[in-house]
Amino acid sequence: MADKTAKLRIDEQEYELPILSPTHGPEVLDIRKLYGQADVFTYDPGFTSTASCDSTITYIDGDKGELWYRGYPIEQLAAKSNYLEVCFLLLYGELPTAEQMTDFQNRITRHTMVHEQMHNFFRGFRRDAHPMATMVGVVGAMSAFYHDSTDISDPWQREVASIRLIAKLPTIAAMAYKYSIGQPFVYPQNELDYASNFLNMCFSVPAEKYNVDPALARAMDRIFTLHADHEQNASTSTVRLAGSSGANPFACIAAGIACLWGPAHGGANQACLEMLRQIGTVDRIPEYIARAKDKDDPFRLMGFGHRVYKNFDPRAKVMKESADEVLDLLGVADNPTLQVAKELERIALEDEYFVSKKLYPNVDFYSGIILEAMGFPTSMFTPIFALSRTVGWIAQWKEMIADPQNKIGRPRQLYVGSGKRDYIDLSAR
Ligand code: ACO
Repeated sequence: MADKTAKLRIDEQEYELPILSPTHGPEVLDIRKLYGQADVFTYDPGFTSTASCDSTITYIDGDKGELWYRGYPIEQLAAKSNYLEVCFLLLYGELPTAEQMTDFQNRITRHTMVHEQMHNFFRGFRRDAHPMATMVGVVGAMSAFYHDSTDISDPWQREVASIRLIAKLPTIAAMAYKYSIGQPFVYPQNELDYASNFLNMCFSVPAEKYNVDPALARAMDRIFTLHADHEQNASTSTVRLAGSSGANPFACIAAGIACLWGPAHGGANQACLEMLRQIGTVDRIPEYIARAKDKDDPFRLMGFGHRVYKNFDPRAKVMKESADEVLDLLGVADNPTLQVAKELERIALEDEYFVSKKLYPNVDFYSGIILEAMGFPTSMFTPIFALSRTVGWIAQWKEMIADPQNKIGRPRQLYVGSGKRDYIDLSAR
C-alpha cells in the first residue's frame, strides 16, 4: 500500500492515484488502475516519464551522473572488480565469495564452445555481412540448437540458458568477425580469462602464436564491465517486451541485439568513430559543430547526449582514462582521431548550444577510439557492446520471468486515424 496518493481531476470526477516510493530516485505514480476507473489512457511516446517495471538491478541518477550495479558505483567496479565478477553480481544480486567465483568461472568457461553445426550456419551469410546482422541471426538460431534450455517455466533451464548466452556470445561475435575477413574460426581457450579469450579468438590465426597483452585484456575487460547493464534502455526494454510473451531467452536476446544496432543506441560507437574520421583534422571541427546546431541539418554529434545523463556519463569518464592508457601503451597517443575527439569534446563542452541542452560525451565517444587502437574494425564496435550487454539483458529478463506480477507488455495508443468507413469497390475508386 502506498503512503502517499495523488489526485487527478477529469471534469467533475476525482481519482486517487497511489504514489510508489523507490529506494532511490523519483517517486512513481501508479496508474495501473486508471483505465479501468476513468476510461483514459496516459500518453508518453519514448517513455520519457514512464517506469515500465520495478527492478533491483541497476540504478542511474542522471543529474548526478551516477551509475550503480546492485548498489555498487561503476567507478569502483571498473577499478577493482572484473567483468565475470560483475556478471555474477548482476545475475545473483551480491558479490561472489571466492568459492562461488571459481564455480561461476568454471561454469562459464565450460560453455564457451558453440555447437559444431553452427559453423555451417555462419557459412550461409555473405562475407560482407555486418557482424551485427550475423549475430542477430546466429543468436536467434541458438534456440534451434539448445532445446534443453528453452523452457522458461523451469528455473534450471533459465539458468543454463543464461550461462550459455554469457559464455557463447564472445565466441559468436569473434566468429562473425573472422567470417567477415575470411579467416578460420578460432576455438575458445578455457585457460584464458574472459577478455583474453575474446581477444585471442579475434586476433590469433592458426599459422602464428598470438600472445594476449595483459594490459589490453584489462582494457577490454573494463569495456565489458562499463557496458554490462544500463537499466531500462531501448534494447533492455526490447528484451523484456519480447520475453513478456513467453518467448525463449535466445529469441529475446536476438531481439535485444537488433534494437542495440541502431545509431541512436549501441550503433553510436561505430557512427562516432566514422564521424571523427570524417572530421579528420582539428581545424574542421567548427564546421561540424555548426552543422550539429543547425535545425535544418539532420547531422548530430555522435557520442554526445543521453536520454538519462544530464550532467555527465560516468562511463565516459572511466573510458576516457582508459583511452589515454591504451593509446600510450600502444605508442599511438598522437593518433589524429584522438586529437579530434579531445578538441571536439573541449569545444562542445564550452559551447552554449551543448551546455544549455546538457549534451555531454557518452560512453560511445571514447570506446571506439580504444577499440580501433586495439585493432578492431568499426563494424565490430557494436557487436562488442552486444556481448558485454548480454549479461544485463539476461539479468533483467530473469528478474521479469521470476516476478509473479509479470504480464505481457501491451502498450495502448492515441488513435488519430480515420473514422469508420465503408469499403469502396476497386472499379468505383
Ligand atoms: N548533437 C546535436 N544536438 C543534439 C544531440 C547531438 N548528439 N543530441 C541531442 N541534441 C539536441 C536535439 O536536437 C534536441 O534539440 P531541441 O530541443 O532544440 O529540439 C535536444 O538536444 C534534445 O534531444 P532529444 O533527441 O530530444 O533527446 P533524446 O533524449 O530523445 O535523445 C540521444 C538522446 C538519442 C542519445 C541523442 O542525444 C542522440 O541522438 N545522440 C547521438 C547518438 C548517440 O550518441 N547515441 C548513444 C546513446 S548512449 C548509448 O546508447 C550507449
